[in-house]
Amino acid sequence: VTERAPDRGPAHARGVASFFADLHADPRALRVCRGTSCELAGAAALHEELARRGPCRTVYCVGYCHRSPAVLLPDGRVATGADAWSGEAGAAPEEPLPRCLARAPVVTERIGRGDFARLAAARAAGAWEALPLALERGAAWVLDTLERSGERGRGGGGFPTAAKWRRGAAQPAPRRFAVANGDEGDPGSFVDRVLLERDPHAVLEGLALAALAVGAERGIVYVRSEYPEARERVARAAAEARAAGVLDGAAFGRRFPFEVEVVSGRGSYVCGEETALLAALEGRRGEVRPRPPYPSERGLFGLPTVVNNVETLVNVPWILRRGAEAYRALGAPSEPGTKALSLGRGFARPGIVEVEFGTPLRRVIEEGGGGRDGVELEAVALGGPMGCIVPRSAWDVPLSGAALAARGLDLGHGGLVAIPRGTDRRALLRHWLRFMADESCGRCVPCRVGSRRALELAGDLEAPAARERLARLLELVATTSLCPFGQRIPGPARGLLAGPEGAR
Ligand SMILES: Cc1cc2nc3c(=O)[nH]c(=O)nc-3n(C[C@H](O)[C@H](O)[C@H](O)COP(=O)(O)O)c2cc1C
Ligand code: SF4
Ligand code: FES
Repeated sequence: VTERAPDRGPAHARGVASFFADLHADPRALRVCRGTSCELAGAAALHEELARRGPCRTVYCVGYCHRSPAVLLPDGRVATGADAWSGEAGAAPEEPLPRCLARAPVVTERIGRGDFARLAAARAAGAWEALPLALERGAAWVLDTLERSGERGRGGGGFPTAAKWRRGAAQPAPRRFAVANGDEGDPGSFVDRVLLERDPHAVLEGLALAALAVGAERGIVYVRSEYPEARERVARAAAEARAAGVLDGAAFGRRFPFEVEVVSGRGSYVCGEETALLAALEGRRGEVRPRPPYPSERGLFGLPTVVNNVETLVNVPWILRRGAEAYRALGAPSEPGTKALSLGRGFARPGIVEVEFGTPLRRVIEEGGGGRDGVELEAVALGGPMGCIVPRSAWDVPLSGAALAARGLDLGHGGLVAIPRGTDRRALLRHWLRFMADESCGRCVPCRVGSRRALELAGDLEAPAARERLARLLELVATTSLCPFGQRIPGPARGLLAGPEGAR
């Protein structure tokens, strides 16, 4: 981020360069996705084949899980499905239209219905209508409306957005920041990529509203490097909105001091975690730090910073335009609104499905048409690496935080990967643990060392004693790790060690 960073010397520079995968990778390398959806679609064999022809490296998800396997080319294009095997991009992958099971679409309202990356088209379809209302009615109105709507963050933690913004606004500080978290690291989730590419003005308007509500003069959109198209589109949209005087309200006759910068990640899953993200923005290793203080109290450069997920921000203009009551009419009383779910290639009808909170998971799986090519599914992986494995016997669970938590499950960012009957669960477990070992930020010992040791132990689980040892180690990692990354390693692992019906 463009801000005066102190010169911390060569040791610091080496530490940063060794942390971020992109900073020590061959720029000519194909980035072969080894995320779960691609892994189940033969990514290991694909990787081996492509590596025979030239430099390749592993990445975990490039946001095309509905077309797995996927390879990100050095020029930023993506080759998916059969094209991935040639290592060359075919025709630009077409986005399937999102489907909406909710009574009204909130997040996917504009997706696929025009080129809303362009300001004129976006404005004609309702973008940038909430900001003038907010400028007229003030920050208190934004916070009250958002609070009454009951909206909660979609980045995985489910924290009420209004409460976070109130805390940010209440801090005495000379400056504040608002950050859109477009890191979307969970393999299996691609909704944030689609929103950043297809409706970037909704993200920018949400960010401008966050800035107005908390009194931030700077907005930052942090986009992972595996999404180059998303980064370019949101940067272009910001430039257009700035030139038109929309971004800072000048076009509405009520200018407020606001500027946006789009920043690229450098290849690190953990940098989706807000404190690690802020460390990366400050030019440091993307390591997690303990909270409190929360970023809304002490964030970027020690100043109050509200960090929100892309999908969360897209909800905000909708709520302010339609009203808190319209929002509360959707979803469950304890969890109003909708969630856009990402269905991977293992489903017969993959793509984005927007549902109201409280919708049974089974209904979503039916909407996905069950398994691809009529294959029966024995489970679905829900919510990425920190999520869970949901066996068929639990598919009636309503998709709401409370109902899921009561069964030890978690929605995460809403990625669904189909697990066909007969899948080699131990191979999948090793895949899972390899991801954890590769992506642990290394800040705390239980996660850094435990994830590697667990991967070694998972190499041979024939003897019951070996399974017992692994279970004990996972328990230790869960109870002693600093952040949810380590704390949640055991959830999916237990699900995978269990039989197809969930029995251990
Ligand atoms: C290991 C880890 C990875 C995370 N990755 C993401 C991510 O990619 N995108 C995201 O929005 N939140 C991610 N989060 C959650 C963020 O820390 C933060 O809670 C979120 O951005 C807040 O936004 P929200 O209140 O709108 O949900 C991650 C958390 C952890 C522990
Ligand atoms: S649990 Fe893992 S990812 Fe989280 S702080 Fe510790 S080492 Fe880093
Ligand atoms: S593109 Fe491979 S898992 Fe998402």
